[in-house]
Amino acid sequence: MCGIVGYIGKKQAAPILLDGLSKLEYRGYDSAGIAVYNGEKINMSKAKGRLKVLSELTHDGATLPGMIGIGHTRWATHGAPSDVNSHPHFNETKSIAVVHNGIIENYIKIKKMLEGKGYKFVSETDTEVIAHLLDYYYNGNALEAVTKVMHRVEGSYALGILFAEEPDTLYAVRKDSPLIVGKSEEGNLIASDVPAVLKYTRDVYFIDNEEIAVIKEDSMKFFNIYEEELTKESTHIEWDVEAAEKGGYEHFMLKEVYEQPKAVADTLNPRLKDGKVVVEELNMTDEEIKAIKKIMIVACGSAYHTGVTAKYIFEGLSRIPVEVDVASEFRYRNPILDEGTLVLIISQSGETADSLAALRMAKEMGSKVLAIVNVVGSSIAREADSVIYTWAGPEIAVATTKAYSAQLVAHYLLAMKFAQVRGTVDDAEMETLVADLKRIPEQIEMLLGNREKIQKFANRYVAAKDVFFIGRGIDYAISLEGSLKLKEISYIHSEAYAAGELKHGTISLIEDGTLVVALLTQDELFKKTVSNVVEVKTRGAVVLSVTNAGNTDIEKNSDYTIYIPKTNKYFTNSLAVIPLQLFSYYIALGRGCDVDKPRNLAKSVTVE
Ligand code: M6R
Repeated sequence: MCGIVGYIGKKQAAPILLDGLSKLEYRGYDSAGIAVYNGEKINMSKAKGRLKVLSELTHDGATLPGMIGIGHTRWATHGAPSDVNSHPHFNETKSIAVVHNGIIENYIKIKKMLEGKGYKFVSETDTEVIAHLLDYYYNGNALEAVTKVMHRVEGSYALGILFAEEPDTLYAVRKDSPLIVGKSEEGNLIASDVPAVLKYTRDVYFIDNEEIAVIKEDSMKFFNIYEEELTKESTHIEWDVEAAEKGGYEHFMLKEVYEQPKAVADTLNPRLKDGKVVVEELNMTDEEIKAIKKIMIVACGSAYHTGVTAKYIFEGLSRIPVEVDVASEFRYRNPILDEGTLVLIISQSGETADSLAALRMAKEMGSKVLAIVNVVGSSIAREADSVIYTWAGPEIAVATTKAYSAQLVAHYLLAMKFAQVRGTVDDAEMETLVADLKRIPEQIEMLLGNREKIQKFANRYVAAKDVFFIGRGIDYAISLEGSLKLKEISYIHSEAYAAGELKHGTISLIEDGTLVVALLTQDELFKKTVSNVVEVKTRGAVVLSVTNAGNTDIEKNSDYTIYIPKTNKYFTNSLAVIPLQLFSYYIALGRGCDVDKPRNLAKSVTVE
């Protein structure tokens, strides 16, 4: 949601903070700020708007000299985006500065208590209570003040804290919001996410819940909330710096769309051996796999959409009943789970608050939790019983593309593995599935080669007001993703509908010129969906169809047709989603939208 950076070392802090924030802007971008201790006091600059406003204001950090500092890029929760609500926040004497990611749920109560004691608040944020509360508890021992605050506040928080009275120490605290510490020769860093520190180091420590890092220029110590020192191992990050840069593409989204063949191949290849699926990380015996009575898939947004696709595949291949739910619903609906239920949590970031809460609930209810996660060492990855990583690399654009595609193939692998063990698919069919699976990366590559055709079509529809995506079965699942991709980056209203459901109300919205994107990749449902295409055409819709190579019949009823290469019926989502991603990208581009950072959104939703 928000991005935090901190630095202490031999170099000027402000340029490092601004650089780190530029790698975290995907987490929030409505305002930004930095605070740096200059040898006498803490100086602060904050500005509403994108990070570049702050960079200009501080002359790229030159106006804030000093070698220890903290920075923040904000996605507003409490208090509108404004200079004053931007982080960092000060206590009244400006001797303590705080940056925060998360939500302090009991801030009103604490604020009242502090106001009763004469504290004056200047912002509308929940974060400001932390600065004043630290001041209230500070008695010459910063660590003690920090732990007292942790005992007092409720909610989620990652904090970076500077004390003017301890100018050689940076404090970092975490509960339910991600925070890492990077160790380098030139000094040490804190950050919400790895890309912010990659330029300086690949050795990071993941701070766990209710832990505190006490960081000096050349050392660091970790404590729990009772001030007991902890031993921690560092993790070496394999991603290189370029992986988190645009690499010549106009936008991260386009770069990530083009990285899909690799993301998919990297996720598949290590798990395909001698014509069989091998998922060692699964950590389940054949007996345990045979004992699964139900699979419950829980996720948010696009990750949820991969779950909707997966339901058809798990049920089709391994004959295990599957339920899919969005995490924010699942966690409050008292679901029926037990030892026979395998819960699958899907997440790119591994930090999505609702998905994490769902994971914890499922574990408490006695189910085994398996996570499909992209970010190594993230909270969901660490708390799940087993984790299958999608090897998509860092995904920066808010609209997910390569992580989505990697999640899809992780589902395919799991469904095939379960089918193998449970004997629901014979050897010949498994061989065909594996062969089809291996072809997906090159087939995606082929589709990417068609980009100009899609761009031309998209250019004609930049002024569209409503776009409907329709399909049946897996095609419905693809529709959900196509529609979300379009609306989140282009701001065009769009809905996905199960094609057969359209005539139960929604078809009344179809009028002359309404754009309908029809997905027809499931051969046994082809004729049924064609009927729905005819229904909308009769009412004046312009239809773009996405179908399998060879289904030329559709051209009679369709204004434009995009063909995807032949693949197994279970894998068509991996191919059909590519033109839909490109279509959304070019429409958004044509409308002048900020493709990588759409309004009101953030990459990692670490608040409920
Ligand atoms: O990090 P996660 O995969 O848990 O994120 C889930 C959703 O927030 C995410 O997929 C979101 O819907 C994307 N912006 C869609 O492009």
